[in-house]
Amino acid sequence: MSTLTADVIVDLQYGDCGKGKVAHYLCQTKTYTHVLRYNGGANAGHTIFHNGKKFITHQIPAGVFFGIKSIVGSGCVLDPVQFFNELKMLEEGGLDTNGKIFVAENAHVITEAHKEEDKREGVRIGTTARGNGPAYREKYGRTGVRAASVPELKPYLINLYQEWYGGGDVNILCEGAQGFGLDIDWGDYPYVTSSHCTTAGALLNGLPPRAIKDVWGVAKMYETYVGSKKFQPEGDVFDKIADVGEEYGATTGRRRQTNWMNMQALERATRINGVTHIVFNKVDVLRTVGQWSVYDEEKKLDFRNEDEMKDFITERLSKFGIG
Ligand code: IMP
Ligand code: MG
Repeated sequence: MSTLTADVIVDLQYGDCGKGKVAHYLCQTKTYTHVLRYNGGANAGHTIFHNGKKFITHQIPAGVFFGIKSIVGSGCVLDPVQFFNELKMLEEGGLDTNGKIFVAENAHVITEAHKEEDKREGVRIGTTARGNGPAYREKYGRTGVRAASVPELKPYLINLYQEWYGGGDVNILCEGAQGFGLDIDWGDYPYVTSSHCTTAGALLNGLPPRAIKDVWGVAKMYETYVGSKKFQPEGDVFDKIADVGEEYGATTGRRRQTNWMNMQALERATRINGVTHIVFNKVDVLRTVGQWSVYDEEKKLDFRNEDEMKDFITERLSKFGIG
């Protein structure tokens, strides 16, 4: 009997929590046969430092840095223009991508018209203008174009059913894009993206629920959001956090709004995603800023130092089953 297992990386806030970093770490410490991007399109921006070089990928998952088969899954929408730019960028950065990068035949395609529309209409939400919303709308409207019908993509196409169930042992790292607060169903609608950013989104790429082993939830010690709603409260401290944390979007260069971490939002994201392991990134930013706060039960809680905040979070997480 061959085995089919998967670990998932999900973002517990509004994207940009450092999933790329966790993917990079897991690819080095565990043995995966595949790395799968399971939702979203070129709206994502994963910043990865590999062999001392900085790479920003938008669609191709982190496995490519380790020579692991890297797949853009059926839950994604793919911009072929961006895809080929990215391949070129990786090759120029010294990576051998040959025979490593694949696109699910049934992934949908972002066209120039989708991008044009998103530039015009996406302003209300503050989208990345990468054509995501229009591409997903056409997918669900049953007027979309699948990767299988784009001639240039032919050398990269993969049939996920054959890949997962073809007889070999398979262990996949599923890499999510965006985050819980941007999820089409569970995020702050309408200020959301158009795809499923939760663990459930990984399953939509042809995986059975029982295949999922570890779910790595990634959070930041404070929250950030990019988009058109007002998110950042008044106060100099939030600008300071943004400055120290270099909170600028990897895709659009927009400045991210910041706020303290919301424990109830984190709790929801942790439960719904079935998180088994949690990572807090950018603790060093609050260390530099020198202020330690969170929101819980609609109240702001202030801590005297890092240890106090850490103890509070640990205790709070244990209440919903994260040890
Ligand atoms: P869209 O996904 O481009 O349609 O944008 C919808 C919302 O999601 C906007 O607020 C974007 O700023 C946000 N968004 C989309 N992708 C990302 C991401 O990778 N990181 C952070 N925010 C994102
Ligand atoms: Mg990002």
